[in-house]
Amino acid sequence: MTERNDHINLYEAHEWKHPTKVAGVTWKNPVGTASGTFQYAAVRWFYDVSQLGAVCTKGCSPVPWEGNPSPRTAEGPASNINAVGLQNPGVDHYLVDDLPKLKEAGAMVIANVAGHSDDDYAAVVEKLADSAADMLEINVSCPNVTHGGMSVGTDPVALAKLMDRLRPMTDKPIIVKLTPNVTDITVPARAAVEHGADALSMINTLLGMRIDIRTGEPIIAHVTGGVSGPAVLPVGLVAVYRTRTVLPDTPIIGIGGVDSGEKALEYLYAGANAVEVGAAALFDPVAPLRVARELDDLLDDRPELAAKLAAGETWR
Ligand SMILES: Cc1cc2nc3c(=O)[nH]c(=O)nc-3n(C[C@H](O)[C@H](O)[C@H](O)COP(=O)(O)O)c2cc1C
Repeated sequence: MTERNDHINLYEAHEWKHPTKVAGVTWKNPVGTASGTFQYAAVRWFYDVSQLGAVCTKGCSPVPWEGNPSPRTAEGPASNINAVGLQNPGVDHYLVDDLPKLKEAGAMVIANVAGHSDDDYAAVVEKLADSAADMLEINVSCPNVTHGGMSVGTDPVALAKLMDRLRPMTDKPIIVKLTPNVTDITVPARAAVEHGADALSMINTLLGMRIDIRTGEPIIAHVTGGVSGPAVLPVGLVAVYRTRTVLPDTPIIGIGGVDSGEKALEYLYAGANAVEVGAAALFDPVAPLRVARELDDLLDDRPELAAKLAAGETWR
């Protein structure tokens, strides 16, 4: 925590001053949790989850997934690498456990959807369509067998086809979460929006690995993993900035390397409507709430930006 933030007491009630709007949905502040880095059962002991702009939950699949073998994580320079493999107890469990508990606690909930095929995504969206979730976030970075094992996020044609199938299934706002592992992220961004996405979130993790020099072998059993944390901030910022240029009216949630109010502010100036905090919460469980509080103060001195966000607009 910087000296400037020492006055912030995260355990005192706070009157939020600067809301934002994402696809017509008002968040009490522009900070949410990033999928896979938030677990209600653990976090509820640390802070009141209703204080966040939104809670984005772990990706859920049609049936329980065991995930990848261990070791699943490694540290990188200013980053970490994970190959958890979307381990989750499945959408049926989500509907009777996490989701009702989060709604009862007053959280704004984004349900993150995972799939290894187009049928998987459709099965989960069908079950979430009339659920208590406020928004759906489709993680199109998962390896997809319908698409030869490649994620649909890397192919605008496959992504358009998936969105044509999912869009008519629900009236809930659909956020498409994009992978940075492409040459030009604005291409899948445009395909998602032209085929019904209400908003975009970016970035998911970057492909990476580490080698154990004692054995000469990869540290992670799955060999490769997804890189996240402070090191990916510049990658996320350029993704948001460029996408804002080609899609001036699409709500964008900026993700990647946010661990302070200042870094969240960079995303808002790059053109995001909101941010999600991921890896920072792995070693500091209260990070999302702290970032939200820091940002709330920083926006006091930026009335023009704050007014735009509250109106569902963006800086650029
Ligand atoms: C351990 C771990 C698990 C993750 N699981 C998911 C997931 O289930 N679905 C998803 O869309 N993104 C998942 N992500 C990606 C994050 O939501 C986020 O996009 C990424 O980590 C970049 O943000 P950060 O630098 O703040 O962590 C995961 C990330 C980590 C570190």
